[in-house]
Amino acid sequence: MSAGENNQIETNPAHGGRLIDLLAIGAEADELRAKAEDLTAVTLSERALSDLELLTVGGYSPLEGFMTEADYRAVVSDMHLASGVAWSMPIKLAISEDVSVEEGDEVALADEAGRRLAVLKIEEKFGYDKREEARNVYRTEDEEHPGVAAVYADGDVLIGGQVRAFELPGHDDFPEHRLTPAQARAEFAARGWRTIVGFQTRNPVHRAHEYIQKCALEIVDGLLLHPLVGATKAGDIPADVRMRCYEVLLDAYYPKDKVVLAVNPAAMRYAGPREAIFHAQVRKNYGCTHFIVGRDHAGVGKYYGTFDAQQIFDEFKPGELGITPLKFEHTFYCKKCDEMGSVKTCPHSPEDRVTLSGTEVRDMLKGGITPPPEFSRPEVAQVLIDAMQERVTPKHAI
Ligand code: ADX
Ligand code: MG
Repeated sequence: MSAGENNQIETNPAHGGRLIDLLAIGAEADELRAKAEDLTAVTLSERALSDLELLTVGGYSPLEGFMTEADYRAVVSDMHLASGVAWSMPIKLAISEDVSVEEGDEVALADEAGRRLAVLKIEEKFGYDKREEARNVYRTEDEEHPGVAAVYADGDVLIGGQVRAFELPGHDDFPEHRLTPAQARAEFAARGWRTIVGFQTRNPVHRAHEYIQKCALEIVDGLLLHPLVGATKAGDIPADVRMRCYEVLLDAYYPKDKVVLAVNPAAMRYAGPREAIFHAQVRKNYGCTHFIVGRDHAGVGKYYGTFDAQQIFDEFKPGELGITPLKFEHTFYCKKCDEMGSVKTCPHSPEDRVTLSGTEVRDMLKGGITPPPEFSRPEVAQVLIDAMQERVTPKHAI
């Protein structure tokens, strides 16, 4: 890549070529807000609300609204939009059959507290086959799968069409880490970065995460740590605890000028391979050129093979995704090597390696046991132990 005219750094273009911005400002916002007051309101679930936010700020570029039928069907069956652009996850707005709205209507989109944020012009209202979506997108129809369960719990009718927002969902958590794609891109440009690797995570950071982040950082200009903070399944460690883990880790072990810590407001789908593509596309929209895909990316239970989420990248034509996956083997600390490694770099046997599953770690924490320093930095382990003791309500129980 080369510096363009005006000495501007050329960044990776958004997916589809142009970063979408659906947020009206000034007089247009005032007009929309006034109009929305008189429209029928559709209340968005936490998940749909995070989709609205990502649509609004361009995290889902080139999408400009909730999917209409042709896009929805093409994505479910073929991982492409009707236009032919690669896209792997349906971005849909489901309502129940008894909500009386029709094609051609404009509706206000509101959060669960009733606050109106955007106007949707309903281009299409259509039925859909949830089991087919589950099979194609999640590779299972099992309702025990948390992503599939969310599909089944949704309304039976989809409404698709253009969105215009006049307000973003309010968040009072992590204000200093809430960057829009445009803000992230501006930050990268200000730092002079041309190549940026994005890291998706929904779990507390451990040393294997740190290792693959730092391996990746060795070959690019900067690292975007982009923990997902939208809806996750019961049992996952809450986002505020995970963010505290990152803060103590960055303070002690990362060069500040090479790392941006920002949050991804998306909900977790647990769709494994399909979600890995989606995660990469969203990070491309935030300005990343590279994206880390490790073991069982976005997986849950035993639904996906350990490296399915890496192999799926090969189903796309070269250049189609516009972001380079950096694929990592299962990594761990090896006591004989006395360092982090993977089966690619460590010749020793499984007994020499420190590997713990998320469930094992959660069980240790529940029992007040600190995970070993080979697995978790002591600063991070302390945050997790403290959080364990603070949280007593079932909603926050970890
Ligand atoms: S998730 O989105 O994949 O569910 P998680 O926090 O569990 O998030 O993992 C973040 C990233 O680190 C994913 O790319 C995952 O594949 C990778 N990863 C996690 N643990 C390891 C490991 N031990 N070795 C290699 N990659 C890993
Ligand atoms: Mg994982």
